[in-house]
Amino acid sequence: MRRAKLTTKKLAQRIDLNYFKSSHPFRRLRFILSVSAPMLALIWLGWFAIARNDRVYSSGKMSASHAVLTERCSSCHLKEAGVFSSKTSDGACETCHDGPIHHTNQVFTPNCATCHREHRGSLRLAATSDASCTQCHANLRAAGSTTHYARNIRGFNSNHPEFAAVRAGSVDPGTIKFNHRVHLKTNLAGPSGPVQLACGDCHRPAASNEPARFGSQPAKAGSGAPEREPPSMNPERAYMAPVSYAQHCMACHGLQFDKRFSESAPHDTPDVVHAFVVERFQRYIAAHPAELRITNSDPNLPQKPFPVSPRVLTPEQWVSERTAESEQLLWRKTCMQCHAMSFPARRPLPMVAKSNITVRWFQHAVFNHDQHRLLRCEECHTAARTSQETSDILLPGIKTCEQCHHSGSEAAETRCFECHTYHDWRKEKPAQGNFPIFGQKRAESVGKPEFNSTVE
Ligand code: HEC
Ligand code: HEC
Ligand code: HEC
Ligand code: HEC
Ligand code: HEC
Ligand code: HEC
Ligand code: HEC
Ligand code: HEC
Ligand code: HEC
Ligand code: HEC
Repeated sequence: MRRAKLTTKKLAQRIDLNYFKSSHPFRRLRFILSVSAPMLALIWLGWFAIARNDRVYSSGKMSASHAVLTERCSSCHLKEAGVFSSKTSDGACETCHDGPIHHTNQVFTPNCATCHREHRGSLRLAATSDASCTQCHANLRAAGSTTHYARNIRGFNSNHPEFAAVRAGSVDPGTIKFNHRVHLKTNLAGPSGPVQLACGDCHRPAASNEPARFGSQPAKAGSGAPEREPPSMNPERAYMAPVSYAQHCMACHGLQFDKRFSESAPHDTPDVVHAFVVERFQRYIAAHPAELRITNSDPNLPQKPFPVSPRVLTPEQWVSERTAESEQLLWRKTCMQCHAMSFPARRPLPMVAKSNITVRWFQHAVFNHDQHRLLRCEECHTAARTSQETSDILLPGIKTCEQCHHSGSEAAETRCFECHTYHDWRKEKPAQGNFPIFGQKRAESVGKPEFNSTVE
């Protein structure tokens, strides 16, 4: 608008004020044009009417996703008494796709068209203005109840609240004991000599197909073939997959249970571990019956000064003694290094607390690591290198984001839609496609003329 005004003013200054006094050969042409131009316009309109192409009435370029509808105004615009109306209805939008409700306790529901501005040639209709959100969030009210969230948000950089996960008092609910500082030090003892661990040795998005350095490869359901989707279409690149013992700890933290076996116990529930250990000892003693006779000639035991009569055990006794020994080591030391274990009095075996590793910290916002892969992990997770407790929160706060997501053209997006969804897509109703391919030839075979040609 402003640009148009400026140019008109500039043009006006250039006009020759004596123009009409002089006779000019173009003045005849002007007359001819003034007669023929409206005629040409009518012919043009008529041609489109015959071709039944609605584009001519348009008020502006359609958005990228709806560009194919340019010849089908009526898919969104109602007709009032058979006449084209510039109004649209939510119902028209919903014939092609649902726009599920935001919150059932919202005090009113804005029309689709107030947020999704059509005819502006936008690349993304979903890129809605902050005003479409702050009309409620600058002074939030909820029907029938008090609100659960910050009540006056005017913009990401003005008074958006600190993220709940990093507010004072919040803790990581995970139960796996882990010390980041110890593991990230130089020359950590690895399976075959000193190593330097990197964040990526334990934290990768689910879609990663890089080999794990200190464990087994992720068992992908299906073919095991690497991901074929381009990065931008792969939702499995947004969040880091939860840490797993098999992929990230196993090579350095084996589960040895007895020196007779080089193999580890399975990483599983105490019942499975118990069954495995019992079975291994049973097989062993069947193959080595001589060990049922226990003497004090064991070089590992302190030598008694007088001879004791050797004990001879039944295989069952032997297995149960060995199992008890091994499990004392496993439950009280090996498993306990990483797990919170409990030993209920009435149960023969201990219980392992749920690991509770959080995969999505922000329940009310989206995040995507892939979009930020240019950064070093520590730029956002500043506390990770020095953290010694699982309970530490290692996530960035709003100040970190605002270094890039701030106003101005040399910055990342700050409008609400970048990080939030509006629609509750869990409630989406599936759409029923029922339009033919839009085209002039096909359109003729479908229905009656859409527009009353008396409309201006
Ligand atoms: C994908 C849906 C859609 C299609 C298809 C569509 N429009 Fe619109 N149009 C809208 C929306 C949304 C508005 C905003 C109106 C409102 O607030 O209800 C609008 C507004 C208008 C207006 C009012 C002026 C304005 O810009 O607000 C005119 C005139 C108009 N459309 C003409 C057309 C014509 C002519 C066609 C066919 C070439 C067409 N529209 C196709 C969605 C559509
Ligand atoms: C004739 C079917 C049809 C109608 C009617 C229609 N759309 Fe769409 N719309 C589509 C298709 C097809 C796409 C592209 C596929 C997709 O993204 O789901 C799309 C995409 C979108 C998108 C996501 C893409 C983007 O640019 O962000 C939004 C938002 C949207 N439509 C809103 C509306 C609104 C609002 C109306 C009503 C004014 C409407 N649509 C009417 C078919 C339709
Ligand atoms: C208060 C503003 C607002 C209103 C009202 C609104 N939308 Fe949206 N819509 C958004 C925002 C923001 C997004 C992007 C985030 C999301 O998906 O929720 C979006 C996304 C969409 C998408 C794109 C989903 C995709 O695949 O990317 C469709 C389709 C859509 N809306 C349809 C509708 C329809 C239909 C209505 C009316 C029933 C409607 N919207 C009403 C703000 C709004
Ligand atoms: C019609 C009013 C209204 C509009 C418009 C509106 N909201 Fe909300 N919003 C609410 C209400 C009501 C709640 C729930 C309040 C409660 O239960 O405490 C809410 C909750 C939220 C929450 C927290 C809960 C959640 O859903 O994760 C976010 C984030 C949010 N809105 C973002 C947005 C964004 C982004 C937009 C714009 C695209 C928007 N809202 C537009 C009324 C609105
Ligand atoms: C040897 C494996 C290992 C390495 C290497 C490692 N982590 Fe972790 N990380 C874990 C484990 C296990 C957890 C879950 C326990 C916890 O929360 O401390 C975790 C949790 C996290 C969490 C989420 C928990 C929270 O409270 O915020 C973040 C963020 C994180 N690590 C970042 C990093 C970064 C950044 C690096 C590199 C500087 C790194 N980690 C290196 C094993 C590792
Ligand atoms: C590259 C080998 C390596 C990997 C991989 C590794 N660790 Fe360790 N871990 C060690 C070493 C070595 C120590 C003893 C370090 C020390 O005390 O200086 C240790 C110590 C620990 C301790 C005791 C820490 C303390 O505060 O004393 C825990 C708990 C632990 N690791 C858990 C894990 C978990 C969980 C994983 C997998 C997510 C893991 N480790 C992966 C080598 C590793
Ligand atoms: C080096 C650290 C480490 C040791 C030692 C370890 N675990 Fe784990 N354990 C983990 C990690 C990390 C997870 C969570 C991810 C996974 O399932 O691999 C886990 C998960 C589990 C779970 C699933 C918990 C849930 O969330 O439901 C069980 C059961 C379990 N371990 C049992 C054991 C037993 C029994 C032992 C001893 C024989 C043991 N673990 C030894 C690291 C360890
Ligand atoms: C731009 C800032 C930023 C960068 C850079 C970043 N993260 Fe994060 N990270 C976050 C945020 C924000 C979350 C919380 C997202 C959520 O769960 O909702 C997160 C969450 C995590 C988590 C918990 C699981 C998850 O995905 O939510 C781990 C683990 C993690 N990051 C590791 C890393 C590693 C490793 C790197 C480097 C490759 C890295 N991050 C780079 C911002 C960042
Ligand atoms: C750069 C990303 C980003 C932008 C832009 C953004 N937010 Fe947020 N917002 C977040 C994150 C992250 C959270 C924390 C979510 C959580 O705790 O689960 C959050 C939380 C919220 C909450 C919940 C607050 C509470 O009390 O816990 C509301 C409501 C909200 N945002 C609304 C908005 C509105 C309205 C806008 C636009 C004016 C906006 N946000 C812009 C990232 C963003
Ligand atoms: C180094 C600058 C930088 C920092 C710091 C940063 N971002 Fe971004 N972010 C970007 C860029 C660049 C994009 C992609 C371009 C865009 O959408 O503007 C982006 C995109 C995003 C997106 C859109 C992802 C998608 O899938 O479309 C979200 C959500 C987001 N950032 C959230 C955050 C949050 C939350 C933080 C703070 C924890 C943060 N960003 C910190 C630069 C940054």
